[in-house]
Amino acid sequence: VKGGYETFMDKEIHDQPTAVADTLLGRVNDRGELVLDEMRIDPSVLRSVDKIIVVACGTAAYAGHVAKYAIEHWCRIPVEIELAHEFRYRDPIVSEKTLTVAISQSGETMDTIQAIRHAREQGSRVLAIVNTYGSTIAREADAVLYTHAGPEVAVASTKAFLAQITACYLLGLYLAQLRGNKWPDEVADYLENLGQMPAKLERLLAEQEDMVRELGAQMADQTSFLFLGRHVGYPVALEGALKLKEVAYVHAEGFAAGELKHGPIALVEEGLPVFVIVPTPRRPVLHDKVISNIQEVRARGARTIVIAEEGDEAVTPFADTVIRIPATPTLMWPLLTVVPLQIFAAALAKAKGLDVDQPRNLAKSVTVE
Ligand code: M6R
Repeated sequence: VKGGYETFMDKEIHDQPTAVADTLLGRVNDRGELVLDEMRIDPSVLRSVDKIIVVACGTAAYAGHVAKYAIEHWCRIPVEIELAHEFRYRDPIVSEKTLTVAISQSGETMDTIQAIRHAREQGSRVLAIVNTYGSTIAREADAVLYTHAGPEVAVASTKAFLAQITACYLLGLYLAQLRGNKWPDEVADYLENLGQMPAKLERLLAEQEDMVRELGAQMADQTSFLFLGRHVGYPVALEGALKLKEVAYVHAEGFAAGELKHGPIALVEEGLPVFVIVPTPRRPVLHDKVISNIQEVRARGARTIVIAEEGDEAVTPFADTVIRIPATPTLMWPLLTVVPLQIFAAALAKAKGLDVDQPRNLAKSVTVE
């Protein structure tokens, strides 16, 4: 059942190239256009949407956070990320022109179900990005964009997360195509880049996995970790910290790198491991800012583990360890950069002798509020 792997989490990390490929399958025609047959919300409604609210929990909410960067850039529609349980119990501004996007692996998360009911009561259409066929969220939504990650067994979400991000990109590009925000060749170019992701993921796993596993095993005695990122690296930092908390029971926090000097830098002391997700040097302004952040924590004694693009030598003088990632457009960087963080968390938990697939106190699907 585990396909020869020791744990489901390991297997599911390795399923990721297929999960992304399957989520893309059949959604691009031979002219390079996006065809979402399942989009059962009328195009005229989608053209008039003036706000998107993503409702989700945990890892699925981080996928929504990535979607915000992509959809706002491609479609010029404001996107708000709402933790479903917070959205439900306040008085959010929702109208017929709001598109609510619910993201859920299980489709049975009670907090998210309540949030979509709340949104629908106020006239919003609901689009679900869901992995489980026929689940409650899929049934209650106006339309469903299924992720095709296959069943996810390990409590810690890995392949579902990559499939959710992929589906969010498809949604963003579809809206851009429909609303004419992007030229068809720009959409086709992004789709081509997405199509290259499965091969890049395979290569990343082949080239970096052993080193990252060893690093995780070596760091099994550490009691605290920080994760820093900017732009789409920020939700990746949050997800890296969540994975470590969930499976290895270690204190870990993710921050927007720019927030460091507003408080978190006080936590940095000699030997503290700090993961930093560095954007491509092809975005020099963003890239150089993150390099400065690495210098800031290193000057205070941090052990820096840097995730950077292949060939980015600017990081080398400031990194204790560099994890190399194939080059890709910035907005699609999360699909690759999160993978070493998943591998690291699994390896560290295993080195501590923990049950990686069934962490204490957690359930795969949270069906109570
Ligand atoms: O099934 P869902 O995607 O709705 O679940 C949402 C969260 O409970 C889930 O992502 C949780 O955070 C995972 N354990 C993360 O690894």
